[in-house]
Amino acid sequence: MNKKTVRDIDVAGKRVFLRVDYNVQFDDGQILDDYRLRESIPTLEYLRDQGAKVIICAHRGRPGGKVVEELRNEPVARHLSSLINCPVRSVTDCIGPEVEAAVESLQPGEFLLLENVRFYAQEEANDPQFARQLASLADVFVSDAFGTAHRAHASVVGVGYYLPAVSGLLMERELEYVGRVATDGEKPFAVILGGAKVADKLAILKNLVDRASLICVGGGIANTFLRAQGIDVGASLFEADRVEDAYEVMRLAASRDDLRLLIPTDVVISDASGTRINNVSVHRIPPGFRILDLGRRSLEDMHEALAPMKTVVWNGPVGFFEREPFDQGSIEVAHMLADLVGATTVVGGGETAAAVAKAGVANRISHVSTGGGASLEMLQGITLPGVEILRDK
Ligand code: 3PG
Repeated sequence: MNKKTVRDIDVAGKRVFLRVDYNVQFDDGQILDDYRLRESIPTLEYLRDQGAKVIICAHRGRPGGKVVEELRNEPVARHLSSLINCPVRSVTDCIGPEVEAAVESLQPGEFLLLENVRFYAQEEANDPQFARQLASLADVFVSDAFGTAHRAHASVVGVGYYLPAVSGLLMERELEYVGRVATDGEKPFAVILGGAKVADKLAILKNLVDRASLICVGGGIANTFLRAQGIDVGASLFEADRVEDAYEVMRLAASRDDLRLLIPTDVVISDASGTRINNVSVHRIPPGFRILDLGRRSLEDMHEALAPMKTVVWNGPVGFFEREPFDQGSIEVAHMLADLVGATTVVGGGETAAAVAKAGVANRISHVSTGGGASLEMLQGITLPGVEILRDK
């Protein structure tokens, strides 16, 4: 995408308002997944090397405009500091005298992490006065918060009304990969869609279907396609009000010689107690059993169909990923993508990224997005407000 980046402006000695997505969870003081922090390091290092004074702004959770102790940014500052091997100071507010004094004392190459910006209700309301207060801390606005770019909030969009706004290096990479597959991408082009909600995924299909040669469905959404084929899915979850839409996609695929739609032919099922687990044909799902993962033959078909692909985008686990052994299908799909030679592979969404990490193949995927909702919207062809605000080249 044709957006200016931090490389296109002079940041030496300048105060940089760097919006990141550090929306991460901790358990007993331990960060559960620091992928978003690690992915922001190139921008942090670039700014440090350029001698910028870096004011980092981030949110955690949905505190609803009030202070929630567990959602403070201080533990994030500590973890970040250990990752980049240099001090990251934190403050207990994101505007006001304490913050202004801390910014005043920042030296070139130093980092300051502001308090959770969602402790102010004005953040989500994109309040102009609040955005102006945030902007007054800095000379330029650098956004690396791809994961939050679908939110028109004050620190994501509003600050850009008052300061020159450019993308950070992570945002640049996200736009290059997720943006490219959303609008272009070398053919043959495959889309793998899993997860629970058909509505979200249908919107992706609508955007990508003209360019796709292969569509694979798994997870909860495959159940809706199976229903559209008239198959009894037992006690499996499916969206009754979307069966008609699934049928439309099937009709479209049938009318096009250059498009193949892969709907599972066999599945892993379990009874309510979770003790009886079987791999069966989709035509043999007993009452009371639920589909929880792709079956062996379906995975093999997918493997074979993916082989000639030049671009593959994957969004949503193909099984009940949270619970073993129903994570196996998603782990196997992660390996399929990693093993594709010469293809651009893009993975979007928190759980899909987790599947890739669990499979241990993240470094063999072209791009694993840090954005869940943001990548979903971008793949649907929606222009993200946090991207739109950035200056064009
Ligand atoms: C995310 O984790 O997807 C982003 O940080 C956005 O968070 P939100 O859905 O609470 O706006």
